[in-house]
Amino acid sequence: MEKSEIVQSAKSIEKQAITEFSNAPSSRDLYDLKVKYLGKQGALSMLMRELGKLGAGDRPAVGQMFNEVKNRLEDAYARRETELKTQEVNAAIEREKLDLTLPGPKIASGAAHPISLVISQIVEILGRIGYSVRQGPLIESDRHNFTALNIPEDHPSRDLQDTFYIDDRHVLRTHTSPVQVRTMENEKPPLRILAPGSVFRCDSDASHSPNFHQIEGLLIDQKVSMADLRGTISYFVDEFFGPGLKKRFRPSFFPFTEPSAEVDCSCPICRGKGCRMCKQSGWIEIGGSGLVNPKVIQACGLNPDEWQGFAFGFGVERMAIIKYAVDDIRLFSENDLRFLEQFQ
Ligand code: PHE
Repeated sequence: MEKSEIVQSAKSIEKQAITEFSNAPSSRDLYDLKVKYLGKQGALSMLMRELGKLGAGDRPAVGQMFNEVKNRLEDAYARRETELKTQEVNAAIEREKLDLTLPGPKIASGAAHPISLVISQIVEILGRIGYSVRQGPLIESDRHNFTALNIPEDHPSRDLQDTFYIDDRHVLRTHTSPVQVRTMENEKPPLRILAPGSVFRCDSDASHSPNFHQIEGLLIDQKVSMADLRGTISYFVDEFFGPGLKKRFRPSFFPFTEPSAEVDCSCPICRGKGCRMCKQSGWIEIGGSGLVNPKVIQACGLNPDEWQGFAFGFGVERMAIIKYAVDDIRLFSENDLRFLEQFQ
């Protein structure tokens, strides 16, 4: 190549490179262009090889020209690089910008099941007057569930239709009263205990579930009367449902209490006027109660001349139904979130 041709080529490479640099859409593309024009195998380097073929007199000036072209291209590259990098950083900032005013994702929080809620409220209310919680097994011996509670062999509640038998000496407990027996057998009176938990009976419809919950109360002391029982239950009903509900003790029968009374309170939904919840009677039954039968005290190894007591057993689902106006007992075991979320 002639000197003039080399100079001409260098100029056109410079011109083309500068155009392409300024059109490069990204710093990545720009870098590729740097390799294309300024790299070891790049257009400028290839042309510089022609330098060796020139006469010694021409070389310094042409070499000088190459240096200048190279410097200008490097400047152009650096300027465009700064420009593109700035654009790219700004775009990234824009893209990653956090709008702190946007509502956050909804965090689903759990809540206590209404049955647990009712149990913990009862435990708290009666805890204030000295009651503490005891537990017993769900699979009970025939003795704890029936015999020690003065339920004779031929009593209807032993009927196969009501009781789930595990074998001929074990049942799924049909009530929480066996915890009375276990506590009297193992602890020294005076006693004030609560036993909440699952119980089982062969029964299933809108108001009966084969697995439901009771909370048992037992007080053992000296000189205990029906008045003590009434006072305790009245206190409890007022605290749990709010004051102003009437309470009614209806004579009843349980083998393990004597005398026995069914506890009713005036329907908290209609306040006694009559509604669907109370089947128009104005009263809702919450459970059984009575003075502990001396035969039970004796069967548990205590002297009935020294110790008396009262006991009560309330249905937890019933209390929840009344308190939260729930119309089907099955809702408590179906785990439908639309139902459960209302108790958050
Ligand atoms: N255990 C009885 C029932 O399941 C309720 C009860 C408990 C009655 C304590 C009197 C005393 O129906």
